[in-house]
Formats: sequence, C-alpha cells, structure tokens
Amino acid sequence: MSTLPYQLHNNIALLCENSKYGQALSLAKKGLEKAEEILGEHHPSLTPYLDKIAEIYELQGHHHHARSIYCRTSKIWEETFVPEYNMLSDIFRGKRKKNKRKYRFSYQNCLQLTPELHLGTGDNRKCYAHPNNPGLCIKVDKPWNEGLHNSPFKRIKRMIMPWLADFSSNREEARFYRTQSRFLGEKFYHHAPRCHGILLTNLGPGLVFERLRDDDGNYSARMDSYLEENPGQINHVIRLIETLYKDMLQLEKLIFCWNKENLIVQQKGDNNDRLIVIDWKSEGRPNNDLPIINFSSYLGRRKMYRQFKELVSHLKKQIN
Ligand SMILES: Nc1ncnc2c1ncn2[C@@H]1O[C@H](COP(=O)(O)OP(=O)(O)O)[C@@H](O)[C@H]1O
Ligand SMILES: [Mg+2]
Repeated sequence: MSTLPYQLHNNIALLCENSKYGQALSLAKKGLEKAEEILGEHHPSLTPYLDKIAEIYELQGHHHHARSIYCRTSKIWEETFVPEYNMLSDIFRGKRKKNKRKYRFSYQNCLQLTPELHLGTGDNRKCYAHPNNPGLCIKVDKPWNEGLHNSPFKRIKRMIMPWLADFSSNREEARFYRTQSRFLGEKFYHHAPRCHGILLTNLGPGLVFERLRDDDGNYSARMDSYLEENPGQINHVIRLIETLYKDMLQLEKLIFCWNKENLIVQQKGDNNDRLIVIDWKSEGRPNNDLPIINFSSYLGRRKMYRQFKELVSHLKKQIN
C-alpha cells in the first residue's frame, strides 16, 4: 500500500483547484516516471500515481485515456496475485510440481506478518492485523494447493471454465474492487470495507482493507462471535440481514457469501447497526458449473434469495 509523496499530492491538488489540469497531469506523469525508474513498470506501488493520472484525465473529460490507465492498473494488480500460471505443470504433475512465482517487479521490502497478528481464516485466505496501523488488516491467499479453490484440479477446471472461482481469491476480489466498487459511491461502503491497495508481505502479496470498528472504538465482531456474545440478539441480526438483502438488490449487487463467517456486525448505536460484507470475491459469480446462471441476472437473484433465506431460517432455528 502506498500513497503519493505528500508534496506532490499537494502540488497536484492546488493545480487542479485552479483548473490547471495540463500542468497537474505533467507533474503526475513526472512522478510516475521517477517511481517507475525505482520500482519498474509493473510494481503495485505505482497505483497511486496511475490513479491520480486517471483522475486528472477524468477532470479534463478525457474518459478514454482514464480508462486505459485504469486497465493498466487492473492488470498490474492481477499479475501481482498470480504472476505466472502454467497449466501444463498441473497436467503433468509430478514432473514439475511447483508453480514458479516469477514476479515482474522486485519483491523487496516486504512487511512481516507473524502468527500473533492473525485475525481469521476463510476457505482460501488468512487475514492479519496490520503491524503498524491499527485501522487496517491484510488478506493473503493461502499457500499454493492449500486453498479450497487452489488445488491442481480446481486450477485446471477454472482455465477451462473461466466463470468459476479464481484460484487466487485476492486476485478475484481485487478485480471486483478495481473495476466495480469505484463506481458505486458511498452507499456501497455502507456494507463493505474500504480497500487500501496491495502490500507485499512475507506470506505473499496482500490486499489491504479497513479493519472495522464499532462506535465505542472496539473492533467489530464477525456475526458468529457477535451472536456467541449476544445470544439474545438473533432477531436484531435477522433484521440487519433483511436490510442488507434489500440494499444489495438496490445496488444491483449479487452476493453469494451469506454465512456468519463473511459478515461483520458493526454496532453503530441509535438503531444504526449494520452488516458489513467482508468477502466480495464471489460478487456476481454464483460459481455454478452451469454457465447459464452467470448470464441470467434473474437466476442469479433467485440464487441469492435462496442463500439469504437459508441464513435467516438457520438463525430462526437457533431461537426455537
Ligand atoms: N475487513 C476485515 N476486518 C476484520 N477481519 C476480516 C476482514 N476481512 C476478513 N477478515 C477475517 O478474515 C477471514 C477470511 O476472510 P475472507 O475474505 O472471508 O476469506 P476467504 O476468501 O478465505 O473466504 C474472515 O472470516 C474474517 O475473520
Ligand atoms: Mg469468506
């Protein structure tokens, strides 16, 4: 995760405020060139420079230039998570066992994630507290062959059926955040953590997210832990799930992660509690072997409705 150098950020902001977009653009491009000299052309830390250049293009009304910058950034992000995949090495397993991880940039100065920082584990990723920033956490893909979607069979299947789950969940979620969430506005962040980019760690490239807090400053709990601590709040949680479902329909987002491990209860007081979806990798992708569901929003909505209802009835059973 990186940001623009403070001075450069301020100078560009000042020029933009005075509508001197041409000058702002050349300043941002010079900054990018300098960063490229040090980091190379494929390093994820180029993101803030590229985003700033795209933003200035947008202000100038040059949307097609902005789009091509966004494409370059998305490509850098995707390549960071899976630098090279050779399907042949999976097909002829035994001869060439390991996927070579040859990055297109130098993998240096990485952040050390230690077991004490571990916050939670899903089927595909582990999440760690940021060692130097209490407001952030970092998700890293489980090692090659250890994630649910990252077995030789799943990888080959995905190459043949590209609508299935990606074998890098970070790549998949990064793709979602880079291409879609930016256009959804503040309403989206009512139910999603902010993504703060990529950080290189000793456990592989990590996606950095906001670590959510309640109004009293404590870290928000996952739904399973929240209900363990507050067993009398099941009806309250069901109401929050219903609100989340309605909001997803309104935002036209199809999520298929309706379980207690993927939802955080953020306590905001004054009837403002909300559910935060922490796992966006499967948005819009029901992960069905049959591709038809991927191309029909009606079938996708029906599947989301079923999953939502299953979670609600699972919780209702706990009351009785
Ligand atoms: N923003 C976050 N804040 C706090 N914990 C998180 C956050 N994102 C993920 N986690 C923790 O990491 C676990 C795995 O994350 P998830 O995105 O569900 O990974 P997977 O792709 O393996 O399902 C979660 O169950 C949760 O415990
Ligand atoms: Mg998950």
